[in-house]
Amino acid sequence: MIADRYLVFRDGVAARSLDEDGGDGGNGLEVTLGDWGGLRLRNVRPAVQEALLRLLKGPTSDQELLRDAPEVGHVLTRLGHLVVTSLPAAGLDHLRVEPRTRDAAYTPTAIGPRTPVRLSRFAYLRARDGRLVVESPLSLFRVVARTPAARALLCGLAEETTAVELAGPDLPIGLVEELLAHLAGVELVERADAPDDPVLRQWEFHDLLFHSRSRTGRHDELFGGRFPHRGSIEPLPAVRPAPEGEGLALPRPDFEEIAARDPGLLIAMEARQSVRDYGPRPMALGELAEFLYRVHRVRGRYGPRTGDGMPYEGATLPWPCGGASYELSLYLTVRRCEGLEPGIYYYDPEAHRLHLVNAAEDDRETLARLGSLSTGGYADPDIVVTITSRFQRLSWKYQSIAYAVTLKHVGVLYQTMYLVATAMGLAPCGLGSGSLEPSSRILGLDWLRESAVGEFLLGSLPERLPPAEAEGRAPDWRPGNDPEWAVKAKAILRGEIDGQATAG
Ligand SMILES: Cc1cc2nc3c(=O)[nH]c(=O)nc-3n(C[C@H](O)[C@H](O)[C@H](O)COP(=O)(O)O)c2cc1C
Repeated sequence: MIADRYLVFRDGVAARSLDEDGGDGGNGLEVTLGDWGGLRLRNVRPAVQEALLRLLKGPTSDQELLRDAPEVGHVLTRLGHLVVTSLPAAGLDHLRVEPRTRDAAYTPTAIGPRTPVRLSRFAYLRARDGRLVVESPLSLFRVVARTPAARALLCGLAEETTAVELAGPDLPIGLVEELLAHLAGVELVERADAPDDPVLRQWEFHDLLFHSRSRTGRHDELFGGRFPHRGSIEPLPAVRPAPEGEGLALPRPDFEEIAARDPGLLIAMEARQSVRDYGPRPMALGELAEFLYRVHRVRGRYGPRTGDGMPYEGATLPWPCGGASYELSLYLTVRRCEGLEPGIYYYDPEAHRLHLVNAAEDDRETLARLGSLSTGGYADPDIVVTITSRFQRLSWKYQSIAYAVTLKHVGVLYQTMYLVATAMGLAPCGLGSGSLEPSSRILGLDWLRESAVGEFLLGSLPERLPPAEAEGRAPDWRPGNDPEWAVKAKAILRGEIDGQATAG
């Protein structure tokens, strides 16, 4: 326990003695925090219980607690982040420092009256449970502002300042220095003259926040497959309802026919390369239909089921998907495909049909131009596949990780598209950036419900493929492990070498 601190239960904590129940053999204390659930502490003698229950009423000096019940320190350790520090130590309760992990600890960092300070570039102020809080992915603590003076102090730190400048009638200089020492200790405030850190400089604010909040260990928010909206909001169906209208029925490929001509996984993996050039003959509608069927058709649906963790409908498609969610949909901006009118289409993965969602040439060219832009303006794409996500399909189940999971799914789908395209002799290329606008307007989507999370170029193979790195023609090429496998696999795909003969 740290000396000279004022301690208090964090907002939302309830605590009660279990002795009143009689059923627990006495000497027990129950401490609960909303959805987090609670702790039942045994063998807590009445004087210690009394001391702890005082923390419900307001900040209490730890020295006072220790005087009344010397073993309280041990119980406080077990309560971990349910007990927070109130600042300043005069008991005025301007700020509260909430640990966000059980083991978080810090030492205040002395800040002189004229030391230049500011909020960390990674700190952010937001309303949480009706209070202004400051948090940062770098900090294992949240600081809660409890008074107007504390709120003004936090806002004043947005610009480089000093304790002297921040001091005022409500917060004399001594108190400001104390508060700053704690804010600096928990890495929410930094010296403005601190040397630049090249590792931190390469983290963007939103990337570090997203990284820290989509994994456990550095925050205290609820996390994972908790079904936070079960009972209050209906889950979305496994398959996005198709737009109205008949749509265009696509030819259905034949399993035996594909199996007879398809290369093995080794060949598809090794021959795979990103291709941004296209052949004089466009890919045909039948090829597009086969590609979509092999990558993204719905093989079936199941559920909801009671009692086995599937209180929503699941589906199965050729690619693996967390929670059998299949929140991703495919839209095709088609410019050149034999047998198919140019247009922007939605692929119905259950009926295996295309639905025209936008026939405007301008919009088609806009999406094609944006796709090309991601290749540095190099590609003149035949087809741009836009992958959208129905976000609420995931967030109905997954708390805090829904967006991270959808991006993982995009990666799985990219590789599936790469492999199927390679096996079929098509030109694939994943893209790393894309738009929310104008793509949402062009696809007719409300971006908060469903919007683009990935883009992929597809077309016919050019007569001569651009040399891939693994072919070793670049002057700076440094061979690694068996790069000739890729060369061999491509020759087999082109029919220049017999794969069986190679194996023999
Ligand atoms: C997630 C992801 C994003 C990509 N983004 C782009 C991109 O924006 N523009 C581009 O021309 N290629 C992009 N690519 C293709 C990569 O440049 C390519 O995969 C990499 O250089 C390796 O070459 P290879 O695919 O031919 O083996 C991307 C690939 C992936 C998987």
